[in-house]
Amino acid sequence: MKPEVPGSTLTAAQLEEAVRCLERGEVIGLPTETVYGLAADGTNSEAVDLVFRIKGRPTGHPLILHLGDVSWLDDYAIDVPEAARRLAERFWPGPLTLVLQRSAQVPDAVTGGLDTVAVRVPGHALARQVILGLGRPVAAPSANRFGAVSPTTRQHVLDDLGEDVPLVLEGGPCEVGLESTIVDLSRAIPRLLRPGGVSQNELEAVLGVPVAPADEAAPAAPGTLESHYAPRARVSVVTEQQIWLEVARAIEEGQRVGVITSQATPKTLGANSALCVHRLAEGARAAAHDLYEALRVLDQSGCQLIVTSLPPPEGLGVAVADRLRRAAAPRPE
Ligand code: TXA
Ligand code: MG
Repeated sequence: MKPEVPGSTLTAAQLEEAVRCLERGEVIGLPTETVYGLAADGTNSEAVDLVFRIKGRPTGHPLILHLGDVSWLDDYAIDVPEAARRLAERFWPGPLTLVLQRSAQVPDAVTGGLDTVAVRVPGHALARQVILGLGRPVAAPSANRFGAVSPTTRQHVLDDLGEDVPLVLEGGPCEVGLESTIVDLSRAIPRLLRPGGVSQNELEAVLGVPVAPADEAAPAAPGTLESHYAPRARVSVVTEQQIWLEVARAIEEGQRVGVITSQATPKTLGANSALCVHRLAEGARAAAHDLYEALRVLDQSGCQLIVTSLPPPEGLGVAVADRLRRAAAPRPE
């Protein structure tokens, strides 16, 4: 029987093509509600190895296994604590990844040899349609080159990886626009490994206990490296009051400057050809939705410096601030 997913948009022929690619061990661009993923059959080690090669990601950095349904959880994880079931029940399908003890069905290629696995059920109908069509989970990192800004449209994936990927499905702009929240439930205390689409408050409201920050026992992972999610341009994070001073100073020095802000441009800078402004709608949800697109557009318009400020540290604002700090961190040579 064909799996039915409400709101799915692939025709039978498109679905068949995507599933065939995955069955052949190929890698496809797959929209999710967070960012676009670079997806391979998560039970095929060679296909998973191909993901690492295309992305240029060092091996040993584990991937997220995307499940078709919450009922698949016990096939890929063992010793699943009650807390994980409650979070899955509340937030799946959706932007939450759980780190749990892995089952023997998960290949080493996915987990980088760890005894834990990261799993989530994506909230995008099209992603679930493909995973249910395959009948097995897909392993998928964000569909960008290692260290670069994650893609939130099909065109972003084509720009980054188009030559190396036979098929990139069109799922529209990603609803959330930032990666999933990752919570480690494999040890005694729940720990937040990466802030994302589900906020710490939302997690704690369901768990009824505090979620601790990551500790040194958490695996060193790409999304947790200091410099990550970085555009080509340098990123400078300043206070809201300082944005236009910093911009004026850099223009004075002869730089081409991009700004990401919800503030109006002061008249004195209005018609400056060295300035590109990406105006955000108010609120953290809009900032999350637009951030990666803004970084890409400003990069493409040749800005050498991108100036922005952090949203208040509430809800999705925590994840936006996390990504901006990493984009602004000193880059490796
Ligand atoms: O929203 C998302 O999570 C997107 C979409 C495509 O689902 N995926 C994504 O994947 O952001 P990626 O590979 O860019 O980030 C996955 C993160 C990495 O930081 C990785 O180290 C961590 O998940 N991770 C995977 N398995 C883990 C494990 N067993 N323990 C701890 N962290 C793990
Ligand atoms: Mg990534």
